[in-house]
Amino acid sequence: MFVLNKQLYFYKQKPSIMLPKIDFTATSSYKYLTDHYIDIVSKHLKGFFDTDSERFEKFSVRFEDILVDYSKNRIDEQTVALLIQLAKECSVKDAIEAMFNGEKINVTEGREVLHTALRNRSNTPVYAGGKDVMPEVNAVLQQMKTFSDAVISGEWKGYTGKAITDVVNIGIGGSDLGPVMVTEALKAYKTHLNLHFVSNVDGTHIAEALKNIDPETTLFLIASKTFTTQETMANAHSARDWFLAGGAVDADVAKHFVALSTNADAVSKFGIDTKNMFEFWDWVGGRYSLCSAIGLSIALGIGFDKFEELLDGAHAMDLHFRTAEFEENIPVILALLGIWYNNFFESETHCILPYDQYLHRFAAYFQQGDMESNGKHVDRNGNIVDYSTGPIIWGEPGTNGQHAFYQLIHQGTKLIPCDFIAPAQSHNPLGEHHTLLLSNFFAQTEALMNGKTKEEVVAELKAQGKSEEEIETIAPFKVFDGNRPTNSILAKKITPRVLGSLLAMYEHKIFVQGIIWNIYSFDQWGVELGKQLAGKILPELRTADEVKTHDSSTNGLINQYKNWR
Ligand code: F6P
Repeated sequence: MFVLNKQLYFYKQKPSIMLPKIDFTATSSYKYLTDHYIDIVSKHLKGFFDTDSERFEKFSVRFEDILVDYSKNRIDEQTVALLIQLAKECSVKDAIEAMFNGEKINVTEGREVLHTALRNRSNTPVYAGGKDVMPEVNAVLQQMKTFSDAVISGEWKGYTGKAITDVVNIGIGGSDLGPVMVTEALKAYKTHLNLHFVSNVDGTHIAEALKNIDPETTLFLIASKTFTTQETMANAHSARDWFLAGGAVDADVAKHFVALSTNADAVSKFGIDTKNMFEFWDWVGGRYSLCSAIGLSIALGIGFDKFEELLDGAHAMDLHFRTAEFEENIPVILALLGIWYNNFFESETHCILPYDQYLHRFAAYFQQGDMESNGKHVDRNGNIVDYSTGPIIWGEPGTNGQHAFYQLIHQGTKLIPCDFIAPAQSHNPLGEHHTLLLSNFFAQTEALMNGKTKEEVVAELKAQGKSEEEIETIAPFKVFDGNRPTNSILAKKITPRVLGSLLAMYEHKIFVQGIIWNIYSFDQWGVELGKQLAGKILPELRTADEVKTHDSSTNGLINQYKNWR
């Protein structure tokens, strides 16, 4: 049996500026993992539990009111040791420090990655480009508090002297998904303000949002880091036209439109006074921005004190991530498990399954977080990788997913590692509902692990009085292999603090994976091509002329569209 040789650890010195550029497939731990995989792949999860009564204690971590049980994974102690060795060989610790210390680890955009500073509740200095960012962070938080308090209390009045009743956040991607996810997740803490989110450039989205609201009592938050995003600008202009059509004049815009952005020039060009602008900075990535001014809709939706609790929870997880040994470090462990399945078992997707209706946008949020970050095929040396990087992230709340796609997870041909997330306490303890929900939460991971053997199926069919012939025919279809890996993330309750910790947990998981895959996780050049092409096609759609400038498919589609519109 292989015994971990500590001499094999290759611990790099702290990099001064850049991230390490290590090919993880060339490390000694990767080679050992390749051999070790052959050993593990033939074993069944059930066997691990049968032979080790301590398995749950060994492979679970508690963090405040969160329990992460990763014992139902296809791992043993050696797997974990080797995966941790891999993280060490890839200088993950140095990379973590580089991020927290404000080094320009977003190399292709020349930016620091400091979303952790947004929730740095210990308020220690954090430097970007030699300047402590904390005074600015605190000033914007104070501005958000003053504003949200005034709107919630009714002190902030619309142009006819009425208090605000409805808030419309106009933004897309990171300027939408985070606030939507959090305000839905924490709806139990809702203020009296009604929140609406408009993201899609499809006019239907804003048209529907505007249907039942009153311009006199509506506040628009134009949320865009760049303040140039086509979808957001189109929706923002339509919102302003709608507002002015209701009888207001330009001077009234100040009471009903605020901007959340890094781009003061574009904000004032749009016609929003920069004193109504909530600033954030280049060192905040769009998909990592919900703790910045982009979270203003959250502060309005649940109150600033609850928004601060969310920041507190994220900060607590940041500290855990930065200081805990890898053996106890939740984001590191989750990242390594993901790499185990992605790069050794060749699983292509990862499923996030919250057993909490309020978390119904949680998977969608991390779909952007993960796929926009780690959907990369060029490594940090500029070379095309010959291994798999970021997985496809998907998921829906339980138990709805059970009646839709779990069949494939249980009996399909693909290995789909899943995160099951549930709160022990419901915000809506209605009759037996939560007990029923949680019985499903526990049952699914157990079933995915154990499966059902042919012997069990036959015994069950016999007990139902089926004939030998019937049993022979039907049994193969009722057999479940099991051995399907899951993480169970059980929280006491989804409070703002717990949600903040879960948010940071997944963010840092994504970070660790990007470091090990040797890719840059904080740019998104792939999104640009579609934007550029749409910009080229737009003027062609504005005329009636036949289009001949593209390939025959694109020309054919455009010309048919022109014919039918
Ligand atoms: O989808 C690409 C992207 O750049 C995301 O990263 C970002 O969250 C989104 O567009 C919105 O950008 P902005 O906040 O600048 O409008």
